[in-house]
Amino acid sequence: MKSAYYIGIMSGTSLDGVDAVLADFTAPSLQLLKTHFLPYDERLRSQLLALHQVGNNELHRAAMMSNELSVLYASAVNDLFKTSGLVAKDVIAIGCHGQTIRHCPEAEKNYTIQLVNAALLAELTAVTVVADFRSRDIAAGGQGAPLVPAFHQAIFMRPEYSRVILNIGGISNITSLELGKAVIGFDCGPGNLLMDAWCLRYIGRPYDQDGEWASSGEIIPTLLEKLLAHLFFSLPPPKSTGRDMFNMTWLEQYLVGHEKPEDVQATLLQLTAQTISNSILDYCPNSEEIYVCGGGARNGLLMSCLSGALSEKSVGLTDQLGVDADWVEAYAFAWLAQQAIMGVPSNLPVVTGAKGSRILGAIYPA
Ligand SMILES: Nc1ncnc2c1ncn2[C@@H]1O[C@H](COP(=O)(O)OP(=O)(O)OP(=O)(O)O)[C@@H](O)[C@H]1O
Ligand SMILES: [Mg+2]
Repeated sequence: MKSAYYIGIMSGTSLDGVDAVLADFTAPSLQLLKTHFLPYDERLRSQLLALHQVGNNELHRAAMMSNELSVLYASAVNDLFKTSGLVAKDVIAIGCHGQTIRHCPEAEKNYTIQLVNAALLAELTAVTVVADFRSRDIAAGGQGAPLVPAFHQAIFMRPEYSRVILNIGGISNITSLELGKAVIGFDCGPGNLLMDAWCLRYIGRPYDQDGEWASSGEIIPTLLEKLLAHLFFSLPPPKSTGRDMFNMTWLEQYLVGHEKPEDVQATLLQLTAQTISNSILDYCPNSEEIYVCGGGARNGLLMSCLSGALSEKSVGLTDQLGVDADWVEAYAFAWLAQQAIMGVPSNLPVVTGAKGSRILGAIYPA
């Protein structure tokens, strides 16, 4: 059978860098052939972070950043070519998420912005590029997120098990795959992004390796209670969120000023664990197996807090289902590109709240 090679490129809300995968979607078994990670340097990360807020000449800065990101994405694609021995004409399309700098699906705004110059990426790689996956769902009244549940359903659903796929990136999101029931999927709240920002400020590292620093602190119950009172956590799905809602400014308003930094870190980790476990217990009570992916899966303390809070369920990694936890999201964008190229809808209206199924993504031919 002829191969169906697609490339998926994800750069998520954590602003840690670019995940790129080469996949072959030829039946019978899906195959993740090659992977490549390109970390952002400090300058790029802080310029992207600055674009999350109103600032001087931001349209120009956003356009320049889109160009720079596209050069980076192209270099990740070239690396996949090198390691696989494939060339541009072998690959049907690249699905590129782009870098989110605003996500405002709410009624009066109805927009989301992911930076990427897809035309430039097509030019640099000579491969067809599919980008802007979220806008069409928002135009149809949806949240434009999460988009990965359709992919989770396609590759992880098994009739004999009730499963939840939990992604812990900058934001956390779940997909519930339960026999005989519609797929449920929504953002639970902050995943790593608050922990990362706090860690960078106080110990100068981009993230708290394995939750080690958090484990030296103690949860501050009054702070945790205030954070948990955010309206987002009690909203029913469909719902999605981002840095627009959960950021350091939001956190700072609840700090009295004399907290030990490690205690705040412990509290933020608990916030992530508790909002995820509450989401699962409230909306997927019958689930038996939880499979975790995303960088948060590498945080041992967070994983053990989750296992403790979900003690009736088995908690493991998507690695056990055959897909390494670090690459599920990028893999999803390769799959979403295939759906777009084949002209098949890939949003789940029941998840995003859109008024119907839509083909997602804008196609820039090679
Ligand atoms: N060993 C580790 N210990 C603790 N945290 C880790 C470790 N490895 C990764 N992380 C966390 O995972 C984050 C990166 O995760 P990931 O790439 O899945 O997020 P993302 O880019 O926001 O993706 P997405 O938006 O697609 O979910 C890092 O910023 C860090 O917080
Ligand atoms: Mg990432």
